[in-house]
Amino acid sequence: MKYNPFGKLDAQASRIAFGGWQLGNTEFWGDMSFEDGVKLVREAYESGVNLFDTAPDYANGMSEKIIGEALHDVRDKVIINTKLGHKADGTTDFSVDSIESQIKESLSRLQTDYLDSVILHNPDYDILSGKTEHFNELKRLKETGLIRSYGVSIDTYDELKIVIEKTNVEVIEILFNIFFQSPSALFTFVKHKKIALLTKVPLDSGWLTGKYDQNAKFEGIRARWDKNTIERRADLIRKMKIMTNDENLTKYAIAFILSHPGVTSVITGVKNSKQLQENIKAESFEIPYKLRQQFIDIYSQQIKNNPLPW
Ligand SMILES: NC(=O)c1ccc[n+]([C@@H]2O[C@H](COP(=O)([O-])OP(=O)(O)OC[C@H]3O[C@@H](n4cnc5c(N)ncnc54)[C@H](OP(=O)(O)O)[C@@H]3O)[C@@H](O)[C@H]2O)c1
Repeated sequence: MKYNPFGKLDAQASRIAFGGWQLGNTEFWGDMSFEDGVKLVREAYESGVNLFDTAPDYANGMSEKIIGEALHDVRDKVIINTKLGHKADGTTDFSVDSIESQIKESLSRLQTDYLDSVILHNPDYDILSGKTEHFNELKRLKETGLIRSYGVSIDTYDELKIVIEKTNVEVIEILFNIFFQSPSALFTFVKHKKIALLTKVPLDSGWLTGKYDQNAKFEGIRARWDKNTIERRADLIRKMKIMTNDENLTKYAIAFILSHPGVTSVITGVKNSKQLQENIKAESFEIPYKLRQQFIDIYSQQIKNNPLPW
């Protein structure tokens, strides 16, 4: 595993990071017990992954608890990034006054007394454009030692543009994969500002592994896709299999993201050891230049002007 500097922190982050959304998340992602989650997180750590992404609302606090249980004895060797705004009890609270108490609730679930990174979980444009007190409050909490860095989790080019232009965030988690490429136009700017850039949903929620086709049936969080959306994705996957001459697209999807300057880590969500190990292995694969260009072209020609829903 190779490591990248985590923004301006004196810390190196694994290029493959662990996504905590699936941990214990029966409602959205299917069965996973607390014990199996702890084992999976620990396996990731033993395999060289040292950056863990979670949020209070993932499985109503259970994701943070699993990560805390799995890593409390190696706390100083890992980077923990959690979020705030969407709470473990299912409510949403983006008030400035609640930031410190929300962080303290996460600390308790994570069995730690500091966070390496805290990011606002899909905040609105007023916050992203620096018109509010949120980042001043986070800066204050950084000075107290409660957190080491702060930032935002966002989805689009426009959100990325405004937040890097108008604020001093140090960490950005962004939706970015072969089907969602528009933010990459700003990655050099992000790199120049020494912001830790974490990419979420790298496999398009499983599609970019190549294992789903037009007949796929989804439950949980992925039940949102209608027939047309599934068929469009299936068609793109079919074309990518021809380009790669491979049925399994996982390593190409991950290597494509890592080929972008400025990307610190790719956060992949996994449900078992096989997926975890495959994604870790993909970190050492270098995408051929021609294929990289073909993935850029397929996005430009078939998705850019008619974006897929997430
Ligand atoms: N708003 C936010 O801040 C936000 C939003 C989304 C995600 N995230 C973070 O980003 C992480 C990653 O995003 P994501 O989990 O939504 O999407 P993802 O990583 O693109 O896809 C994850 C899903 O793909 C499948 N998968 C993963 N590796 C595989 C492999 N090697 N072979 C076959 N299937 C594989 C698994 O589902 P199946 O086996 O069921 O197909 C897994 O649940 C999350 O865990 C979370 O930490 C943050």
